[in-house]
Amino acid sequence: MARLAAGVVLVTAYDPDDGPNGEDVGMTATAFMSVSLDPPLVMVSVRDGSRMDELLERQPLWAASLLTDGQRQTAGRFAMKGRLSDRLLFQEVPHTRGEHSGAALVDDALAVLECRTEQRVRAGDHTLVIARVLGAALPHAPDAEPLTYYRGRYRSLS
Ligand SMILES: Cc1cc2nc3c(=O)[nH]c(=O)nc-3n(C[C@H](O)[C@H](O)[C@H](O)COP(=O)(O)O)c2cc1C
Repeated sequence: MARLAAGVVLVTAYDPDDGPNGEDVGMTATAFMSVSLDPPLVMVSVRDGSRMDELLERQPLWAASLLTDGQRQTAGRFAMKGRLSDRLLFQEVPHTRGEHSGAALVDDALAVLECRTEQRVRAGDHTLVIARVLGAALPHAPDAEPLTYYRGRYRSLS
């Protein structure tokens, strides 16, 4: 599967139960895809036991920011296992809060999607989280290049 070139997204969700003001949580993902056009559904596959898995079990609202090739540092940081706090990471990533989901939306992403989970399917050591798209926006200039991941490395198209 390392030979399947993939786009990279940052999946985000707001955890209202973490700390006095809640916490934004993020997870770098390539197992993200469109599922249906009518109704608009997307899906992300989340590893059991990860911070995002634990959060999406109780938080149906989340978002996906489609990253540009200028955002590979963000992708790298939100893929680190055992990191202390996503709060600190989000201080370094310009973002706004989505009106539909309350989740962090990365500024200057290629596109941002806000979603509500409709179905959760256990599959091996992952859960497929299928969600309805509540809103979509194209914050970046149309000529931005996507961040891709291929054979274990982040890459640019050009
Ligand atoms: C390029 C890339 C793609 C990834 N895609 C996924 C994914 O689709 N689903 C997933 O659960 N984890 C994926 N991961 C791993 C998570 O980003 C990582 O396990 C998580 O952020 C670490 O948090 P944790 O300690 O809670 O597991 C990916 C990592 C990288 C580097």
